Amino acid sequence: MKRIKLWDKEFEISLPFEEIQKAIKKMAVQMNYDLQGKSALFVCILNGSFMFAADLMKELELNDAEISFLKLASYAGTSSTGEIRELIGLNEEIKDRTVVILEDIVDSGHTIADVISQVSKKGAREVKIATLLFKPDALKMKVDLDYVGIVIPNDFIVGYGLDYDRRGRNLKDIYTLVK
Ligand code: IMP
Ligand code: MG
Repeated sequence: MKRIKLWDKEFEISLPFEEIQKAIKKMAVQMNYDLQGKSALFVCILNGSFMFAADLMKELELNDAEISFLKLASYAGTSSTGEIRELIGLNEEIKDRTVVILEDIVDSGHTIADVISQVSKKGAREVKIATLLFKPDALKMKVDLDYVGIVIPNDFIVGYGLDYDRRGRNLKDIYTLVK
């Protein structure tokens, strides 16, 4: 098993790049079908979702798709703080649009619930959630996820956009913390 060290912690590979790409392609097939003709606005939640959004958007066959970015932060170290700070907001016209939120991971559900409420307040016609990763055992509230790439155990992970204190985002594969 391939291992890496970030700061003081060791991680071992748990989801290779190929597996991630396979999951993204599957999500895209479903989206290409569901979102045809809807001129959907895809909203990438930064920082964590930048790799997912980039790979997913390339698989979409939707000539009316648009993308924008929302920068939020809720994590400190290896656990969610539950408090979400908005660092870069959305400027796009949301009213009456189909909005698809692109998240790297749904953990406690706080971030996604906050984004859904923000976008709904701006008058979106429908809000869909696409998350590459989902930790059902960490969920603290009810959230409806429309597109889920890979369901994972409640362990801390890094790579493919996700970080441990700012490091590890550039890793091509996903790694799990070695306890
Ligand atoms: P939530 O608000 O608890 O659902 O957390 C969502 C955000 O926390 C995600 O968008 C990630 O950026 C971050 N996050 C959640 N779990 C992990 C993890 O295992 N590793 C790194 N970041 C994570
Ligand atoms: Mg995130």
